[in-house]
Amino acid sequence: MYKINDCHNVNDFRKLAKKKLPSPIFHYIDGAADDEVTYRRNTESFEKCTLIPKVLNNVDEVDIGLKILGKKIDLPFFLSPTALQRLFHYEGELAVAKAAEKFNTFFGISSLSTVSLEKIKEIKTPKIFQLYFHKDRGLTNSMIDKCKTGGIDAIALTVDTITGGNRERDLRTGFTSPPKLTLSSLLSFATSPSWSLNYIFREKFDLPFLSEYVKEGTDIKVSVSDYFSNMLDQTMNWKDAENVKKKWGGTFCLKGIMSKDDAKRAIDIGADAIMISNHGGRQLDGSASPFDQLEEIADFVSGKIDLICDGGIRRGTHMLKALSLGANACSGGRLYLYALAAGGQMGVEKSIQNLRNELLRDMKLMGCTKISQLSKKNIRFI
Ligand code: LAC
Repeated sequence: MYKINDCHNVNDFRKLAKKKLPSPIFHYIDGAADDEVTYRRNTESFEKCTLIPKVLNNVDEVDIGLKILGKKIDLPFFLSPTALQRLFHYEGELAVAKAAEKFNTFFGISSLSTVSLEKIKEIKTPKIFQLYFHKDRGLTNSMIDKCKTGGIDAIALTVDTITGGNRERDLRTGFTSPPKLTLSSLLSFATSPSWSLNYIFREKFDLPFLSEYVKEGTDIKVSVSDYFSNMLDQTMNWKDAENVKKKWGGTFCLKGIMSKDDAKRAIDIGADAIMISNHGGRQLDGSASPFDQLEEIADFVSGKIDLICDGGIRRGTHMLKALSLGANACSGGRLYLYALAAGGQMGVEKSIQNLRNELLRDMKLMGCTKISQLSKKNIRFI
């Protein structure tokens, strides 16, 4: 049988996840907006340039650690916040947290997390909370308050999700939170018995950040896209972002910045970091990839705030390219989510281990022993 240890890269985990998950759940992770052009581009754009190695440089000892969002981590990448993780594996966010802790890297917790902060408070690795700015200000403020007392190290305010993206795979499969049985998905749930038994008999599905305030997503079944379109505040603006930063008072990041003009405004409101991200191609199809935009933004920002290149990363070499062009760190969702679905904590650990091994090998082959040695000199655009 095809197992976690046979998964040598993200795509191997994707195939295993596809076998294990009911199809509406798999396609929720795997799918993106419209024709999914941007989703594909996020990875393909790394092929726009090549790596130029340096040789004979004593690479016996390689250190791939760095400081990001005020914390020292042992890897140049972290696990982006993603929603609904207990639908992918019954261990959910706790599995992801424990795997991140093992490798001492940041992990993200979404406003649409299926576990509460109490459940992960013992985890020592740094945590970034992804805040969605809800119309219900009481809800938005309650999440910021929970972050203050719940051991969160940084907040990332999501700015690319002012309305829900057009995720046609979800429309076709009828994916909702919580999942509903439709005639077309019935067979798929029946042929994923272990997923279905876990869903029925383990802890009841909940969205603990939201369910005290809104019924949608827990008592009322909705698609994620409709949730965003109906529950998030479309009047959100720079003043609101600044107010969130002030109310939080800690390390503050904007997730979903794609231009140097918006990077400038992020600096103006005092953000500590931006995640260059298009939400994994799940929102505006046809938009540029994070790697497309990285050089221009990095040249402009020139070290004033941290830059995180989020999305499309499937290989250690993709990270070397992003770090060479000026990203301070990389991050991704699907790069660990397929692994979560395939094997819970063990799966996520193996996915991090695979990327770590690639990075260590690739750094040596590039002739570099520290991330700070990577620079534009290492790459050529074709
Ligand atoms: C999504 C959100 C929830 O893309 O991040 O589905």
